[in-house]
Amino acid sequence: MTTKATNIFEVHSRVDRKTREERNRHKGGVLWLTGLSGAGKSTLAVEVERALFAQGYHVYVLDGDNLRHGLNSNLGFSHEDRTENIRRVGEVAALFAEAGFVCISAFISPYRADREGARKAAGDSFHEIHVKADLATCESRDPKGLYERARRGEIPDFTGISAPYEEPENPKLVVDTASQDVTQSVALVLDYVARNLAFAETTGKT
Ligand code: ADX
Repeated sequence: MTTKATNIFEVHSRVDRKTREERNRHKGGVLWLTGLSGAGKSTLAVEVERALFAQGYHVYVLDGDNLRHGLNSNLGFSHEDRTENIRRVGEVAALFAEAGFVCISAFISPYRADREGARKAAGDSFHEIHVKADLATCESRDPKGLYERARRGEIPDFTGISAPYEEPENPKLVVDTASQDVTQSVALVLDYVARNLAFAETTGKT
């Protein structure tokens, strides 16, 4: 996106990212969970957050359903609104990473181009994780009853039914929640974090 404002000047922090990360003993980063509604993104996000927090990580979850009440309350589910939803979240998640946090984002984020924008915002700190469950599985879970309503035609532009989901082509991690339970799925993400974001001491390695 181009910058609309003119006459703006960057302010440089006196606390740099490296200093923050050294104190935290882990890198900042964005764990970008993408997948269908009902795939298990939110469940995974809050369980991973709880586990990482217990291990001493600075960690915070950004969740679609929550942010749509606040920051993104003026957005719906048209392609255009989803793009703006993900643009804002991508920028916020990048700020969290810059602040030294492990930011776990849980958004359907169905469009590759939008996820690419979020990746650009966070740069090397961006870790795309596909929370994968096929449509039939998500539909049979239907925790919010939304698939049933979408099938009845009551919810327009519903991802997987009347709006597309573009699968990630090269995710850093795939968590298949159709064949693995929550504990196994959480363990996969924790292992990924230990390998990619932890400083040596936190993993027990020398
Ligand atoms: S995204 O597509 O813009 O990334 P987001 O993750 O913020 O979506 O919100 C998805 C949540 O909104 C779903 O989990 C579901 O509870 C709710 N929802 C309401 N309407 C729709 C819709 N048309 N398509 C998908 N999810 C919807």
